[in-house]
Amino acid sequence: MTIQFNDETFRDDYTFRNSEWAIKRFPFPFHEDSYMYSVNMERHRGGPDGSVYAKRFDVDEHYIAEMRDRALVLADDPLRCQSLPHMTLAGWDLLELIMVSKSEDYPDLFELHRDGTTWRWVNKPLGIDDTFTFMDEASLPYGPMEYITRQTQGDFAVLDQRENNLWMDAGMVTTQADWSLDFDIGMNFFEWHAPVPLAHEMGVFKRALKFLLNVQQDSPARRLNWTMTVNPLLDTSPENYHKWGIQKTTLTPENVGRKQHLRVELQTFYRLPRSNALVFPIRCYLIALEDLVTVPKWGRRLHRVIRDLPAELATYKGFIDNRPIILDYLSRFDDGLPTSPGI
Ligand code: HEM
Repeated sequence: MTIQFNDETFRDDYTFRNSEWAIKRFPFPFHEDSYMYSVNMERHRGGPDGSVYAKRFDVDEHYIAEMRDRALVLADDPLRCQSLPHMTLAGWDLLELIMVSKSEDYPDLFELHRDGTTWRWVNKPLGIDDTFTFMDEASLPYGPMEYITRQTQGDFAVLDQRENNLWMDAGMVTTQADWSLDFDIGMNFFEWHAPVPLAHEMGVFKRALKFLLNVQQDSPARRLNWTMTVNPLLDTSPENYHKWGIQKTTLTPENVGRKQHLRVELQTFYRLPRSNALVFPIRCYLIALEDLVTVPKWGRRLHRVIRDLPAELATYKGFIDNRPIILDYLSRFDDGLPTSPGI
């Protein structure tokens, strides 16, 4: 399949748009009419052709624009990418995982040629053709994690595993839903999840950690998470809250369909071979409500989910003040018909 890459922005004039193809394959996250936190994890065994689950690192029409946006964020704030000294080996593991996966899954876009430790990496969409020595940092323009994640959509947290816990000791985080790598660096699984309401009491994090500590090589896992974002912003970081937080106050009944976006994260979990680290890619998909409601069962269901979401979750996810405007809009697409389980 040939991908037509969009020329678009996730800031300023917000020319971001989803094609019909992107709308059709959007990972709508609700399999019933209500939502509550749970240990919603499953094996990541791929998915139907064309779906966002089909490839290990999904490349879509937003690829070039997302990589451009990441470069802008990093130029402004280099601390969005950090790797503690003991995580370099995990960075090489990650570079290998992504290069092998992308060259196998998208041979028309990416090529990897290996001759011993001499590797040649060709990234056609970004116009990159680099030859380097595997495991020799001096042969790349950036550290291995930074090099490859500047070329891969989604955020990346790279977790060291020790003392029966996971530690956020490296990451590339420029498209996050209001959390900060610079704040979380060096924290463990319970510490960085501390702000999440209700889930600790429900035992969600204890069970999730147990699952993650046992993820094996070649047996990745996945889950979906979601939130709401006004304007198609990738960078909704605490560092830049002064720029995007205020935009939430611009929502009106007239512009809500165009401005309000459902933000879905496809989160995957891979065990890395040499370092035994766990990598956590967080891939963000945005869809405007006016595009979402073109699929009638999505519009109907989203209305019910948002209407019945506990206030603690709507507050944490940052849209409690805008919930009435969003509900007014979505209610027009809810005909009251029963929905069937599943997506
Ligand atoms: C939220 C990281 C795995 C459930 C978060 C936050 C971070 C994070 C940084 C934001 C916390 C804040 O407000 O500052 C990670 C990392 C993981 C991981 C690095 C991989 C090791 C999981 C797993 C679950 C989970 C396996 C399974 C249930 C949640 C939930 C939230 C959350 C429910 C709140 C999200 C929302 O309501 O939008 N996570 N997480 N996380 N995480 Fe994780």
